[in-house]
Amino acid sequence: MGEEIRYFELNNGARIPSVGLGTSQAPPTVIGDAVIAAVKAGYRHIDCAPIYGNEKEIGMALNKLFEGGVVKREDLWITSKLWCSHPEDVPVLFDITLQALQLDYVDLYLIHGPFAKKKDMPGFNPECFGPLDIPATWREMEKLYDSRKARTIGVSNFSSKKVEDLLKVARVPPAVDQVECHPGWQQSKLREFCQSKGIHLTAYSPLGSPGRNWIKSDVLSNPVLNMVAEKLGKTPGQVAIHWGLQMGQSVVPKSTNEARMKENFDVFDWSIPNDIFAKFSEIKQRRLFDGQFLVHELGPYKSIEELWDGEI
Ligand code: A2P
Repeated sequence: MGEEIRYFELNNGARIPSVGLGTSQAPPTVIGDAVIAAVKAGYRHIDCAPIYGNEKEIGMALNKLFEGGVVKREDLWITSKLWCSHPEDVPVLFDITLQALQLDYVDLYLIHGPFAKKKDMPGFNPECFGPLDIPATWREMEKLYDSRKARTIGVSNFSSKKVEDLLKVARVPPAVDQVECHPGWQQSKLREFCQSKGIHLTAYSPLGSPGRNWIKSDVLSNPVLNMVAEKLGKTPGQVAIHWGLQMGQSVVPKSTNEARMKENFDVFDWSIPNDIFAKFSEIKQRRLFDGQFLVHELGPYKSIEELWDGEI
């Protein structure tokens, strides 16, 4: 038996459920059923973003769950994110998300990343992106927080330095930094920094995103993970998730497959003993999502080092 890690308390007193459902890459045609199955299986935290292209379908599923009495709004934790905004567009984009999700408020609203889109330049080419005015954008986030339409605010894909710079100008400190984190990219420096400032980490891609064909992920086949899984009679996926919980971070594994979704949530009545937990520090570290699409001489960052402030 291990200690049940169901929630983490944030710096504003809110409690974020420790295991959420990630929804990136989930086609709009299947995400609704996936959200319904997840909530029925016990998930109380859904991680969304407009750039995933499926918030409307998630909103319809949430509405069905509330109408059917499966769960109450106040018992769910819904996160969404601000994509590539200029400060003056923040309230408009936030309202679009609320409408799509059919909600009056979100539990957590994050700046999706430290970059903006150049006006009138659609597409994903690096030159279409520009720098984000972080202080002015954060002031808009604080207004949403004051209005209680965003009950907690935070950032995503911010390095320690970017969080530190933000803390210098923030009236409301960010409560969360959501970043790539798994046994193959443990974020030691960022975690230590955020812990020292009372900022919680949420791990995206906690399984190392095995389903993406454009990155070569081998996290789930790592020998340490497999040794631990075998010893504990768990799957490598469950071990990766539990490693995250024991490191003190919430995790948002993605799955649209009901069996794997349940597997990923079956992590509350056991733990990885200290002696084998130490083995995770031997795993070779490699960032999977390096943000190359933002690096361009005309773009927001001239190099990967600059984007992550050396945390690569
Ligand atoms: P599927 O939706 O078919 O379950 P991450 O959250 O790290 O980005 O990983 C998500 C990917 O991992 C998806 O492709 C998902 O596919 C797959 N996946 C989810 N849960 C597991 C698991 N327990 N074991 C192996 N693969 C999983």
